[in-house]
Amino acid sequence: MIDYCEFLNRLKSIDELDGFADYISPRITDAWQQLNNGDLSKWQHAVNSLPDVNPSRIDINNDAIAIGYLGDCDDKTRARLKESLMQLHTWRKGPIDFFGIRIDTEWQSYMKWNRLKDKIAPLKDKLILDVGCGNGYYGLRMLSQGAKVVVGIDPHLLFVMQFQAFNKYIKTDAVSVLPFKLEDMPTDTPCFDTAFSMGVLYHRRYPIDHISRLKNLMKPAGQLVLETLVIDTDKDEILKPKKRYAKMPNVWQIPSPSVLVNWLTQAGFRNIEVVDITRTSHAEQRRTQWMQYESLENYIDKNNPNQTVEGYPPPTRAIVLANK
Ligand SMILES: C[S@@+](CC[C@H](N)C(=O)[O-])C[C@H]1O[C@@H](n2cnc3c(N)ncnc32)[C@H](O)[C@@H]1O
Repeated sequence: MIDYCEFLNRLKSIDELDGFADYISPRITDAWQQLNNGDLSKWQHAVNSLPDVNPSRIDINNDAIAIGYLGDCDDKTRARLKESLMQLHTWRKGPIDFFGIRIDTEWQSYMKWNRLKDKIAPLKDKLILDVGCGNGYYGLRMLSQGAKVVVGIDPHLLFVMQFQAFNKYIKTDAVSVLPFKLEDMPTDTPCFDTAFSMGVLYHRRYPIDHISRLKNLMKPAGQLVLETLVIDTDKDEILKPKKRYAKMPNVWQIPSPSVLVNWLTQAGFRNIEVVDITRTSHAEQRRTQWMQYESLENYIDKNNPNQTVEGYPPPTRAIVLANK
């Protein structure tokens, strides 16, 4: 279990987040227990074994988050560090440099960030919610844009622990990754200026419910940044995979952009704008030393690059902005 005191104090020091902090504080222990995972003690050990090193720089402004320089520690310490970081395999979102060790993550996450960062409302001094935040890579990039606080939530404890590994060295109390699902969040505290939901909607059985829950947490006129898989067609279409989509078992519905806009309209959003549609490339998602399982190349039909192994359209993602 992680000590979230500093982060919760930070939330409580911000008037608009006081009620939100009061709601989540007593629920963290339960959430942690419910999400418990057989590998948790291994991950905790890995984080506890990270060597004490003082980074002479923290850089969250560039594509790769950089903690320290190669010269900040000796080779023996770096070998220990690498061993601990490897215990936190699978590394999906990044890249991140730890004292000269480049964690080459499955996703080159900066590619998505660069597609959206100049299109969204400025984050300076804003209160941000990042639902399904993974290890907090994007939360740190939001902080680099001047966000006042970023509340990341993700139910997968590996990602919660990966953030702990970053934050052992970064030591920020303005970003955290909390072990919650969106469904665990309060429904009557509209306190965030911007809510991000990236890569989550297609995993939800009831997408409009997910969108409405995001809306409940947003201030009036707040901005939603929704990123999700789409079927790239001008028609109103929804793909409901029979079993798997790109080998993923839990993909319920993939809408066309016009259907996605309809869902947002039905949930009561306005100023809805599709700002980007990009087919996922092998440059953006691939297997690496730090993610040794299957990746995009295994999800695409070897004889036809224009379809998944199941015969569906290949992974393509849209970024949609909307106001409450
Ligand atoms: C495909 S990843 C996307 C990560 C990151 N947002 C990105 O865009 O790269 C989806 C994440 O959503 C999390 N997730 C799944 N169901 C969720 C829920 N009900 N509430 C919040 N997060 C959820 C998963 O644990 C996972 O880390």
